[in-house]
Amino acid sequence: MTTRAGRAAAGSQGTDPTWYRDAIIYEVHVRSFADSDGDGVGDFRGLTQKLPYLAALGITAVWLLPFYPSPLRDDGYDIADYTAVHPQYGTLRDFETFLHEAHRRGLRVITELVLNHTSNQHPWFQRARRAPAGSRWRDFYVWSDTPDRYAEARIIFKDFETSNWAWDPVARAYYWHRFYSHQPDLNYDNPAVRRAILRVVDFWCALGVDGLRLDAVPYLYERDGTPCENLPETHAFLKDLRRYVDARYPHRMLLAEANQWPEHAAAYFGDGDECHMAFHFPLMPRLYMALKQGNISPLEWVFERTPAIPENCQWCTFLRNHDELTLEMVTPEEREYMWREYAPDPRMRLNLGIRRRLAPLLDNDQRRIRLLYSMLFSFPGTPIVYYGDEIGMGDNIELFDRNGVRTPMQWDASPNAGFSTASPSLWYAPMISTPPFDPAHVNVADQTGRSDSLYHFLKHLIILRKAHPELSSGEMRWLQTGSRSVAAVLRIEKNRWLCAVHNLLDAVQEIELCFPQAKGSFRDLIEGTLIYHADAGRLTLQPYQTVWFAGTMDQG
Ligand code: GLC
Repeated sequence: MTTRAGRAAAGSQGTDPTWYRDAIIYEVHVRSFADSDGDGVGDFRGLTQKLPYLAALGITAVWLLPFYPSPLRDDGYDIADYTAVHPQYGTLRDFETFLHEAHRRGLRVITELVLNHTSNQHPWFQRARRAPAGSRWRDFYVWSDTPDRYAEARIIFKDFETSNWAWDPVARAYYWHRFYSHQPDLNYDNPAVRRAILRVVDFWCALGVDGLRLDAVPYLYERDGTPCENLPETHAFLKDLRRYVDARYPHRMLLAEANQWPEHAAAYFGDGDECHMAFHFPLMPRLYMALKQGNISPLEWVFERTPAIPENCQWCTFLRNHDELTLEMVTPEEREYMWREYAPDPRMRLNLGIRRRLAPLLDNDQRRIRLLYSMLFSFPGTPIVYYGDEIGMGDNIELFDRNGVRTPMQWDASPNAGFSTASPSLWYAPMISTPPFDPAHVNVADQTGRSDSLYHFLKHLIILRKAHPELSSGEMRWLQTGSRSVAAVLRIEKNRWLCAVHNLLDAVQEIELCFPQAKGSFRDLIEGTLIYHADAGRLTLQPYQTVWFAGTMDQG
């Protein structure tokens, strides 16, 4: 049996230090996936049993939402103990078994490092509020006698909070919180806090996790007269963290959750010496916007605005995740547009976003769902697939906060959908029960058995993505087509190229397509049919059709 230290020294998976650049990440919540012990809540044993399903889909890394002890008032982002497993999800040994089994199948595991804040139930906070003002323990958090400081900092959970300060009757002082008031922010000016967080990093890296998602990373420090986001002190801390991790745990990846404009998000790469990855938040709503408007302008704009990034870094791109579809990185007019078009019912809106899943957002139109996936997989960045979206699961806007996009995974058409043997009244959340998204219509068993399903489409894109390294790290150029309603990109690396064409309209389009790299005739990599002759330089696109073809420079 390998020791923890042995595993840490050996690194985790394989020998490629930049594995994340061509990964395909699957985001999953332990509690939503599979319940092994019949209590109505998904757990690590259930997740481990489903690893063959994930391996068969072709993804290469699993990102787990927080699974630590927590009062679960923010679904686990309110951590009460950083180095244990919530008993509902199993034991630490169950986690280790999961990790081991994932690694055995060549899958990497990314976990959450929620470093900006804790739950108010965390012993650090309980100790802080009782410690004398000004003491090292009190200063684990950020306190003030008045709620007026740092007034330039925006409120993120606008629908729930009116201030970033909350009164603590025990400490008889206000404490700072960027999210829910039950999530006090840690004080990174206190060296003891920075050391405590490194112990958390040690714990999970020593167990062998491959990557850490740094939750809410822009908000670590507060400074008067600033918006308290993206401060130089935060970047300095990240450089220290990176040095620390690199020196001890080879091939681990740090992923920045920085919901920021491209230039600020790119700053989290540093000079290749901060985070290895960062989410590309501004791209996501513009994929939906371009599709709805039938116009490539939002996409051109966002790529134009995105700076070049260091060689060893990579963007993480996504269509949906466990949060609301955030509209923070758009203009107020664009936000109104997105709300009007994609969230006509006010219950679909939350904070500055939309709490719906991929398939309902696109009216369950399989052509448009596939089109968005095709853009995600052919544009730069490492794509993330949110659990359930590979089969086009629905959402439930009746549920509180973001719970409507976190419902149980639908494995089969049986009444319990194969999620749990418990009576549904005991489940952590109700199953989606209204057609066309109920388990009778949307489930894994049906889609894995049907070659024309969304599952198989996505699986095919994953195969193509792996077979074409130019999609992971190649440069991207827009191709002129004579139509503003077609998004055509050329990805090039060394002597390889891949062209992906997307018809953003519900109408047939005849386009011109000429680029010097293409010589001869080409088959569509998705449908397998002959589609393009370079000499003719024309392409016919069916409504919302997506076409990929590829070649090498020395061809012809
Ligand atoms: C991140 C998470 C979100 C959580 C918040 C506060 O934005 O994605 O789910 O509520 O941080 O921890």
